[in-house]
Amino acid sequence: MTHIRKAVFPVAGLGTRFLPATKSVPKEMLPLVDRPLIQYAVDEARQAGIEEFIFVTAAGKGALEDYFDTAAALELRLKKNGKTAALAALGQTRMPEGTLSFIRQDQPRGLGHAVKLAQRAVGNEPFAVLLPDDVIRAPRGALAQMVDAHAQTGGHMVATMDVPRAQTSSYGVLDVDHQRGQLATARGMVEKPRPDVAPSTLAVVGRYILQPSVFDRLAVQGPGAGGELQLTDAINADLADAGVTGFRFAGERFDCGSIQGFVQATTVYALDRPELRLDYEKFLRARQESLQAVA
Ligand code: UTP
Repeated sequence: MTHIRKAVFPVAGLGTRFLPATKSVPKEMLPLVDRPLIQYAVDEARQAGIEEFIFVTAAGKGALEDYFDTAAALELRLKKNGKTAALAALGQTRMPEGTLSFIRQDQPRGLGHAVKLAQRAVGNEPFAVLLPDDVIRAPRGALAQMVDAHAQTGGHMVATMDVPRAQTSSYGVLDVDHQRGQLATARGMVEKPRPDVAPSTLAVVGRYILQPSVFDRLAVQGPGAGGELQLTDAINADLADAGVTGFRFAGERFDCGSIQGFVQATTVYALDRPELRLDYEKFLRARQESLQAVA
């Protein structure tokens, strides 16, 4: 059984769906309630036993790097003023020295290209990839669930969920050979298929455990859907040699790369917070009643 020690966080995308906010704030720094998306992803990785965090960033993403810096002056001030809750909140951002690295992607040439740039940092071992704009709410982190399952299957593993057929063109989709419990053995993967030609409705979402052989595939691969270097294509090309398993995680996934998904996640995560819940529920009920009265 191989310990998955390293995780890659591709965060170099332009985030155009959140313009103008993302003109100066990286998408991954947008907060769900009071924590930025990147914090949810890093916490999920830590829960799964990840020890090294590799971020693929781009120009204009400096706030992401600063976020994990020690804020000595701020900490001192909070300590002096007895702000223990604020200090504890700040503590979430503290990572052991030497565990973070940042790699720059010059041009947004696609998720596959971003992952390829992490090759030197990953080396020759299986590794995880987490897309922070896919937020997964689960009692046990989705990546931790995958790490457990991967110990049995090996090969490449992708997180999957069932989607309505009309939505297949927004996802990578598995061509399923056979299924057993949460595991689906793939005989192929297609990026963004039209609903009428999609091989299934089992869609890939932003968590992966990959073998390093994926880098060899990315090195020789040309652009795919949307003219971008697609990670799905590289995994698919390696399928016969390494095997690909789809893992149906237990949990609820929010597409926080879209405004609709982000707003929905904000509501759900706010309702999860004991100190906000009662007032927020009251507010939502009153809001719904007033909307019904107007209708
Ligand atoms: P998206 O497809 O959501 O693209 O990328 P985007 O640029 O972030 O957002 P929109 O569509 O313009 O609103 C999925 C993930 O892949 C990363 C993104 O940062 C995001 O985590 N990515 C994408 C890169 O790191 N580099 C790329 O070239 C493309």
